Amino acid sequence: MADRLLDVESLKVTFATEDGLVHAVDDVSFTLDRGEVVALVGESGSGKSVTVMTLMGLTRSPNARFAGSARLQGDELISCPDEKLEQIRGKEIAMIFQDPISSLSPVMRVGDQIVEQIRAHEKVSKAQAMDRAVNLMERVGIPRARDRARSYPHEFSGGMRQRVMIALALSLSPSVLIADEPTTALDVTIQAQILQEIKDLREQSDSGVIFVTHDLGVVADVADRVLVMYAGRVVEQGTLDEIFYDPQHPYTWGLLGSVTRMDRTPPRRLPAIPGLPPSLLNAPEGCHFRPRCPHAFDRCTEVPALGSRVSGAPEHLDRCWLEVSEKRRRREVEGRIGLATGAAA
Ligand SMILES: Nc1ncnc2c1ncn2[C@@H]1O[C@H](COP(=O)(O)OP(=O)(O)O)[C@@H](O)[C@H]1O
Ligand SMILES: [Mg+2]
Repeated sequence: MADRLLDVESLKVTFATEDGLVHAVDDVSFTLDRGEVVALVGESGSGKSVTVMTLMGLTRSPNARFAGSARLQGDELISCPDEKLEQIRGKEIAMIFQDPISSLSPVMRVGDQIVEQIRAHEKVSKAQAMDRAVNLMERVGIPRARDRARSYPHEFSGGMRQRVMIALALSLSPSVLIADEPTTALDVTIQAQILQEIKDLREQSDSGVIFVTHDLGVVADVADRVLVMYAGRVVEQGTLDEIFYDPQHPYTWGLLGSVTRMDRTPPRRLPAIPGLPPSLLNAPEGCHFRPRCPHAFDRCTEVPALGSRVSGAPEHLDRCWLEVSEKRRRREVEGRIGLATGAAA
């Protein structure tokens, strides 16, 4: 299929630590097509970053073990040699990190950093590369881009630095752009602007975007499809509408109840789900969400398979033992599904 950019199948990432094995990513599968935004959503520690960093080859280390497959336009990423990955990284698949400081050099002017990245992969003159850098900086909304290209990262505000990083990530027109909580450290108005830019970019190019966030409210506007992750596993996945209007997993209900309402001024953060995610060293048997789930029953000590349970929605998958009708009933009773019912507003 020509439109398929990425095909991740049964990806597993395990880290051997002094305390034991950490099952950071446990059997995650998804696809990304051209022009699509797929959101990975879940609380901190659910395995989102390890998933996307593994696609970039950034989790490779002597204590990391990988299983499954991730193909970028047919090329296997998980087992490919480091040298090949270096050519792919930046050019075919690029990432915007949560913390711009970590991917920008503090001692180099930002324009030069973009120029250097372009020239590392393409045979173009410095002047041509600089024109492209300035153009990219304009595209991501940096005013007086030609002047600003001569500034150092510390001379930018947090929001502008984030934009520089987006320009850097876009400099080689990657077919897959990964944004890992790119907006978390920013104030909410800037968050909304950056999201809008990612949306525009998706519409202008035929790349695909993987957007990682702990806040479902943030993706309401940008995502086509959503994967909800909990403790290393996907607990639910579906289209944006399926996740927002017919959520099947009690964990998703909890996330929906604690979204940031971007439609409010000022945007408002609703209460979090009580309790904490488990340590991935010894996650509870069966459904990992069981200890925090108000709807858990005996069967939840077995792991539910990720499967299609809603009739007429074969791509809407979840990992919960409750009957669909029972879920719908309890969801109504719970009544705190913010965006779906407006009840939590
Ligand atoms: N290199 C590593 N060694 C051991 N454990 C790790 C390593 N990297 C991440 N982890 C663990 O994997 C889990 C998932 O982390 P992460 O993907 O960063 O979560 P998220 O991005 O969803 O907040 C966490 O429990 C984290 O401590
Ligand atoms: Mg993370």
